Amino acid sequence: MTGKKNKKTQVAGRVLSVASEFAPLVKTGGLADVVGALPGALAVEGWSVRTLLPAYPGLVDKLASPTSVWSSDDLFGGKARVVSGRLGKTKGSADLLLLDAPHLFAREGTIYLGEDGRDWPDNPQRFAALSRVAAEIANVGLPDGWRPEILHAHDWQAGLAPTYLKQRNILGVATVMTIHNIAFQGLAPATMLDELLLSKDRFDADGYEYWGQISTLKAGLVDADWITTVSPTYVNELATLEFGMGLDGVIRQRQATFSGILNGVDLAVWNPRKDTLIPRPFGPRKIEDKRQNTDALAQEFGLGTTEGPLFGVVSRLTRQKGLDLLLEVLPDLVERGGRLVVLGSGDADLEAGFAEAARKHSDRVAVHIGYDEALSHRIYAGADCILVPSRFEPCGLTQMYALRYGALPLVARTGGLADTVIDANDAAVRVGVATGVQFSPATADALSTALDRVFGLFGDPVLWRQMQERAMKHPVGWSESAKAYAALYQSLME
Ligand code: ADP
Ligand code: GLC
Repeated sequence: MTGKKNKKTQVAGRVLSVASEFAPLVKTGGLADVVGALPGALAVEGWSVRTLLPAYPGLVDKLASPTSVWSSDDLFGGKARVVSGRLGKTKGSADLLLLDAPHLFAREGTIYLGEDGRDWPDNPQRFAALSRVAAEIANVGLPDGWRPEILHAHDWQAGLAPTYLKQRNILGVATVMTIHNIAFQGLAPATMLDELLLSKDRFDADGYEYWGQISTLKAGLVDADWITTVSPTYVNELATLEFGMGLDGVIRQRQATFSGILNGVDLAVWNPRKDTLIPRPFGPRKIEDKRQNTDALAQEFGLGTTEGPLFGVVSRLTRQKGLDLLLEVLPDLVERGGRLVVLGSGDADLEAGFAEAARKHSDRVAVHIGYDEALSHRIYAGADCILVPSRFEPCGLTQMYALRYGALPLVARTGGLADTVIDANDAAVRVGVATGVQFSPATADALSTALDRVFGLFGDPVLWRQMQERAMKHPVGWSESAKAYAALYQSLME
């Protein structure tokens, strides 16, 4: 460790983090942001974290001094090696271990989907391989003597790692399974048991069987020493029929070893005062400078001027995100003088719905179908209000970026959205704590009422500005949550 201020000099412990995404290298959603930022935040707490992820095309070239630290002639049907190296530009501890297995990961398309838009048929093998190698590293360590005390598996892609450790009776390594989204369960047909190196004995309700299929997420949930999820509210929701998506029984059984740790955001990347991706940086004391970002965004998308707020959406376009509700109330939003910029991609009907709305209201509504990191920054910086009407939201990061950029979030009261945004009800406004607007249930009617409230608040510039300033100062960084992970790891080591 560097004896830098607020860095502890002794290593508190070693963590192998296992995941399929890592920002800024490879990202499809919030998982990448979290897996990419947490190691740096844990380093401040004195932890040595190394992250194992697949070597998708081009990734090995991004490592400084890549070294081969493990190899196999046959990992699920092909040659594989693990390349260790540091990620040059990332701040904090970005020690990466890339699983270079060309037969599994060197392919065009996205990391999960082929060019036909469907899951790669061998996704079970691809991510079983990742989990298998994680277990192997946890067992024997790396050539430099580094062996983890904690294996931290993220989502279904790493779900088999705790199971493989348990199967092989590997001792001295505690496992944590984090649920970022229970909707993705890593299902595979039962006929793959042998191929995935899973014993038939545990293919049952207490093991990794899920309605006749294998679930790699369930494997992690039953076999990890501890389970976490990404917000306290989602902990409670997961135990219910409505939100548990068939795994609520498992969750209830594990209640004593299950906790919620709220995600943070990487303050170095998401800093409106220093953001080089936005036209005009601004801070809570110079919120008036935000206006230039709003005007630039409206101009970029050919939107006309209005007195009303400019709304923004940055999202996967899926049922989870409740954006069909937004389509329902869109005529109303436009009628009232609002404008809207949407950035996202996903379900064909939602993409078509927003494209159609943009055609119909071309000077008020604009949509960019696709994935564009820089544009997302311009939207957070330019929008007056970011809309997150999710049906469920384990944590959600976009509302936190919105807070940081003074784009007051309008959110459904669920999961992490409930835990991060303070609703501008009368009491909260009176004592000066409100940072946004919440609505419930997730229906078009409730969203419409919430939009009315946003228009009302926006019509009071003094109040709106106070809320913006407060939102921008709301603590959304990693420090508290990194301490919570550190305390959890510590307790598991003991
Ligand atoms: P989820 O992980 O469920 O998609 P989160 O709110 O946790 O939701 O994280 C979404 C992340 O992905 C945020 O960093 C958001 O800015 C980013 N994002 C989503 N869609 C896009 C897009 N089309 N272009 C750029 N960034 C996007
Ligand atoms: C998932 C969830 C999202 C969460 C992210 C990071 O993708 O949908 O709510 O913020 O993971 O934990």
